[in-house]
This record gives sequence, C-alpha cells and structure tokens, in this order.
Amino acid sequence: MDATVIRTEDFNAAHRLWVKSWSNEKNEEVFGKCNNPYYHGHNYKIKVCVTGAIDEVTGYVMDMKVLKQIIKDEVIEPWDHKNLNEQVEDFFNLNPTAENIARVAYHKIMKRLPINFKLKIVLYETERNVVEYPC
Ligand code: NI
Repeated sequence: MDATVIRTEDFNAAHRLWVKSWSNEKNEEVFGKCNNPYYHGHNYKIKVCVTGAIDEVTGYVMDMKVLKQIIKDEVIEPWDHKNLNEQVEDFFNLNPTAENIARVAYHKIMKRLPINFKLKIVLYETERNVVEYPC
C-alpha cells in the first residue's frame, strides 16, 4: 500500500483578479473586491501531498528535507512577498485565482518528483477558501 506525506508551507502575495479583454464593469461584476486595480494580499497556505510506495530500506515515501527544498525552490522563493500579476511570469497571462495558483504549483513541483509519485496541492487562500488540485 502507498502512503501520502504532506508538507505545509506559507507564503504571502498580492494579486488582482481580472480578465484583460473585459470592460471594467464586467470585471467588477465578476470579481468584485478581488478586481481592485491597486491589488490586495493573501496569506496563502499550501499543503503539498505526495503519494508513493514506502521505500523498503529508508521507510520513507520521500525525504521531507528534499520535499521542503523543492517547495522552496518552486513556490516560496519565486512567489513569496511578490505581486503575482506583475512580478511572477507564471501569471503574466493567467488570472492568479487560487485554482490557477494551485495548478501552476502542481506542475512546477511535479516536474521535480519521481515519475511514479502522485501529487496533490491543497491551497488555502483564506481559512475558508480552499482549492484542491487535482481532485
Ligand atoms: Ni484575492
């Protein structure tokens, strides 16, 4: 049977939700306060859940020090204390919703994991608003 190991990290970042091709009125209607053109911030919490076989020798699915470093390289260093729309290339042409942030994190972290591992990202934009990718 496989096991899942979970590492939790935090970062904070600013964003604005909008669709460039829409009018101000339509963006306001769909995104409300999150469309504030002067941006706003969130304290994001990311749970990175890695599923795989327990290694017979180490007893690990994966070394948590390694997982911690991967999350640091791929998510924390590039995104923490940044304006996602303006400073993070991943979101120059992608609306930085919690869904898209989770999806981008998934692909960046997945690239660094052994091919036979499964990955799930749980992203908390607030304590009440949470996204799982994939589900
Ligand atoms: Ni927001």
